[in-house]
Order: sequence, then structure tokens, then C-alpha cells
Amino acid sequence: AIQSIRASQHLDSRGKPTVQLDLKSSHDIFRGPVPSGASKGDYKAVELRDGDMSVFHGNGVTKACGNVNRVLRPKITESGLDPAHDLKKIDELMIRLDGSADKSKLGANAILAISMAAARAGAAARGVQLYEFLASEGGYPTNEYVMLVPFMNVLHGGDHSGNPMAFQEFMIAPTGASSFTEAVQWNAETYMALKSIIQEKYGKAAFGDGGGCAAPIGHPEGALDLLVAAIAKAGHEGKIKIGIDPASRSFFNKPNVLDAAQLGKLYRQLLDKCPIVFLEDPFGQDDWDAFSKFNQPCKVELVGDDLLATNINRVRKAVQKNALHSMLLKVNQIGTVTAAIAAAQEAYSAGWSAFVSHRLGETTDDFIADLTVGLRTGHLKSGAPARGERVVKYNRLMDIEDDLHLRKISIRYAGESFRSAHH
Ligand code: PGA
Ligand code: ZN
Repeated sequence: AIQSIRASQHLDSRGKPTVQLDLKSSHDIFRGPVPSGASKGDYKAVELRDGDMSVFHGNGVTKACGNVNRVLRPKITESGLDPAHDLKKIDELMIRLDGSADKSKLGANAILAISMAAARAGAAARGVQLYEFLASEGGYPTNEYVMLVPFMNVLHGGDHSGNPMAFQEFMIAPTGASSFTEAVQWNAETYMALKSIIQEKYGKAAFGDGGGCAAPIGHPEGALDLLVAAIAKAGHEGKIKIGIDPASRSFFNKPNVLDAAQLGKLYRQLLDKCPIVFLEDPFGQDDWDAFSKFNQPCKVELVGDDLLATNINRVRKAVQKNALHSMLLKVNQIGTVTAAIAAAQEAYSAGWSAFVSHRLGETTDDFIADLTVGLRTGHLKSGAPARGERVVKYNRLMDIEDDLHLRKISIRYAGESFRSAHH
């Protein structure tokens, strides 16, 4: 059972306050650090911020920490719930105590921190790895696993990159590798090649919040040319594919940008020209019609981030409207581990895929690595193969691959079938 819980304010990878939590059980102390995104979609669970503008520009999380220490801790420890078997009940208890629809009263950041740490405590109590624990919580096999394709964001644009490119992320996806570890190697080699191409061409390379390069290019075609050149320079032509997250919400309603029809046309041109397999948030967060129109049929994976906000009601609406066919899974948008598992199940049962994502404001925690393997999502993004808070996820995944080999547990690399890895 849980003996004590303590939350404190730490910093995330962008220097913004975030909740860090220690949960003590009879087995050990387990951590629950919470990431934080830049994207301000309107449909997600609410991160509680202090709002006192004289401290951290209003971004403090001392209220969320106080809610853990004064409201959630006593109720959870008194409940006697055991993380080894009761994770869902622990999550439900917190949701009841919060009482709001969007977790805004106690804070999704307070609730998620406990949920993550409790999952870790549960795994330890059962004597299994976290990915095994999460697989069994989701009803997935624990005697064979699928290793995912790492979609690494190596070239940034958008709000946080400081360059004129409106599209937020350009990712490389080594679908032709034979293992996760080889995929990481290929991506890192391509990232190095990209850096040197940008340095040669522009004198120097800048970097965005996710560790990817930012070059002074204004048009997505220029970005794609750079990626194609880097893949070729690293010797992986034909074996590394490309993904794009324009994060359209961030530029959609601004003046002088393309409308939905023009954007659709631009995407089709880019898809014809480059080996793109993945497109996230191509249209604004409420532009259901533009999504539905583009998705009939769409030869690349069409993924919803801000459109869905990892919210099951919005997933159902998207299924009805045939708006897309893949759900981006950000655990801190939905606010508990069991709700994240349920969201993936909802997506799968609609015939969709699920894609686990880091946030641009991250911590050096690796929870999502285990989550991705446990839920068999077949692909994940965690930024570039650079910066501690990004590579810690990829490093954990290489350890998981090793661990599975050592234990002689059956394992396959998702490769080209990253969209159907859960089958
Ligand atoms: P976020 O960005 O950190 O704002 O969530 C990542 C994304 O848009 O996928
Ligand atoms: Zn996104």
C-alpha cells in the first residue's frame, strides 16, 4: 500500500515550474514528474498554474503541489488502495475528489503525478517491469512485444523555434531498420548529417525546444529538401521516411496564411514529392470539415493532436465524421494513466492507431517509453536524438529491447507496419 506522497515544484526542460512527486510504498520511492506542452488546445485537462504574475510569470505550481500534499495524499493513503491491483480505483478516487470535468480544481498536473508514480509502485509490487505492468493493465500480451518506430523531430519550425517556418515539426522515421536500436542509430546519424548540411548552407545551426535544428527556411518544401538530403548523406535513402506536424492551430487563423483548401493542396503536393508517411494536425483544432475532406482516402497516417486533445468524446466525434484515423496520446492531456490506456483502447477499437508523444516542456523522466511498449502503439515521438530529456526516452527503449532479448521474450520491430502494431 501507499505510505506517503509528497509533491514539490521543480523545473521542466524550458525552465518552467512543474510538479515532481515522490510516492513511498513498502517497496521503494517512486517518481511522478509531469511534462508540459506549449500547445494550448482548448479541449484538454487543465494544468493548474498559480497565476501570481510576480512569481514565474504566473506559472508556479505550488497550488497543484499543495493539492497533492493536503487534499490527495490523506485521502489516498487512508483509502488503503494498493497500486499493484487498484490503479484504476486510485485514478477514479482522484477524479471524484477533483469533481470537475477538466481536472481544473485539483489540477491535471497534480493528479497525473500521482497516477504515474502509483503505476510504478504497482509494477514494483508485482515484481515486473513498468511496460509489463502497463501491458497487463491494458489487457495486452506480456509474452510478446512490438518495438516501435522512433519518429524523431530533427527540424523545428513554428512558435518555439525562432525561425520563419510556420510548420512546427519535421520528423524522421526509420521504418526500414531491423530493430529499435538500429533505428536510433540511423536517426542519430541523419541528425548529424542534417546539422552539418545546415551549418554548411547557413553558417550555423540553431536548435528548438525539442532538440531539433532550426534553419532560416520559410517554406516547408525547403525543410523537406534538407531532410531528404540529410537522409541521403547518412546513407539511409529509402529506409527512413518522413512525418510532419504543422501544428496548424498555431498559425491557422492568422492573417496572410493559407486557408484550408490551399493548405490541403499544399499537403498533397508535398506528399507526392517526398516519402511522407505521417501528417499531424494539418488543419485548425475545430476544422472538422477540412479533416474529413482531406481524409478520403488519405495515403498517409492522419494524426489528431489538438483536434482530439486525447479526449475520448472528441475521438468518437472524429470517428463519426471520418476526420482522421490516428490519435496522438499525450498522457498529461488526459490526466491519468488508466484514462490514457482507455483512450488507446478506444482508438484501436475504431480501427485507428495511437501515437505516444512527449511534450516540448519535458522532464528527464522516461514513463512514456514503457507506456508505448506496453500499449503496443508501434510509434512514438520524443524529439531529436539530443538533449537529456529527449534521449532518456530513447535510451530506456533500447534498454527495454535489450531486456526482452535477454529474457528471450518474443519481440518484433514495427517497421512499415507501425500503424497496425497493436494487431
Ligand atoms: P506540445 O507540442 O509540447 O505543445 O504538445 C508537441 C506537439 O504539438 O505535438
Ligand atoms: Zn502536435
